[in-house]
Amino acid sequence: MSPRTANTAVSVHPLLAERWSPRSFDAAHTVGDEDLVSLLEAARWAPSAYNRQPWRFLVGRRGDSTYQRILDALGSTNRFWAGNSSLLVAAVAAERLDDGSPLYGAAYDTGLAVAQLSVQAHALGLHTHQMGGFDRDRLRASLGVPEGYQPQSVTAIGSLAPADLLPPDLRARETAARERRPLTETFFAEQWGTPLPVGQDG
Ligand SMILES: Cc1cc2nc3c(=O)[nH]c(=O)nc-3n(C[C@H](O)[C@H](O)[C@H](O)COP(=O)(O)O)c2cc1C
Repeated sequence: MSPRTANTAVSVHPLLAERWSPRSFDAAHTVGDEDLVSLLEAARWAPSAYNRQPWRFLVGRRGDSTYQRILDALGSTNRFWAGNSSLLVAAVAAERLDDGSPLYGAAYDTGLAVAQLSVQAHALGLHTHQMGGFDRDRLRASLGVPEGYQPQSVTAIGSLAPADLLPPDLRARETAARERRPLTETFFAEQWGTPLPVGQDG
C-alpha cells in the first residue's frame, strides 16, 4: 500500500483506493495505441441518461498539435506540470438535444465517462489528473468545438515520475496527505445532516 492510498473505514477495490492525481509525469513515456483505445472504450461504455452519450472527447498525444492546443488552453500552473503527461484529453458535453431543447445532466454523464477512463488508466498502470483550470473559449476556438457543446474538463494521463522532479511548491502538494470529508458528514439518512448509522471514518 502506498502512502497515497485512500484511508478507508473498510477496504475498497485497489483501483479506487490507489487512484490519485499526481502532477509529476514522466516526460519520456508514451501511451501505445492499444492502451489508448482501452481508455477510450472505458469512457465510451459509461452509462448515461437515456443512453444519450452526450460526451465528445478531443485527444492529444504529447508532440502532436491537438496536445499542444489543449496544453495552451490550460491555466499557467496546470500548464507547467501537465506538459509532461503522455496524453491530454478534453471532455466536452452536448448542451442541447437534436430538437434544440436543453439537455440536462450532460455534464454529469460526461463526468461518469471520465471517471471510467480514469479507473481504466489506473488498471493499465497509468495515472490521471483532471483539470477544470483552463480557458474554455480558447479551447473551443483552437479545436473547433461547435456551438451547443461545452468543454468540461481536461485530463492529463501518463506515467508517474518522482515527486522530487517538481519545484518545491508543487512537490509539497504532491506529497501532502490525501483527505476527504468524513463519512458522517457526507452520507445521510432520515433527515439531511443526520449521519447514516454505519461505518467508521478511517
Ligand atoms: C473536475 C475537476 C477539476 C479539477 N481541476 C484541477 C485543476 O485545475 N488543477 C489541479 O491541479 N487539479 C485539479 N483537479 C484535481 C483535484 O484537485 C483532485 O482530484 C482532488 O484534490 C482530489 O485528489 P485525488 O484525485 O488525488 O484524490 C480537478 C479535479 C476534478 C475532478
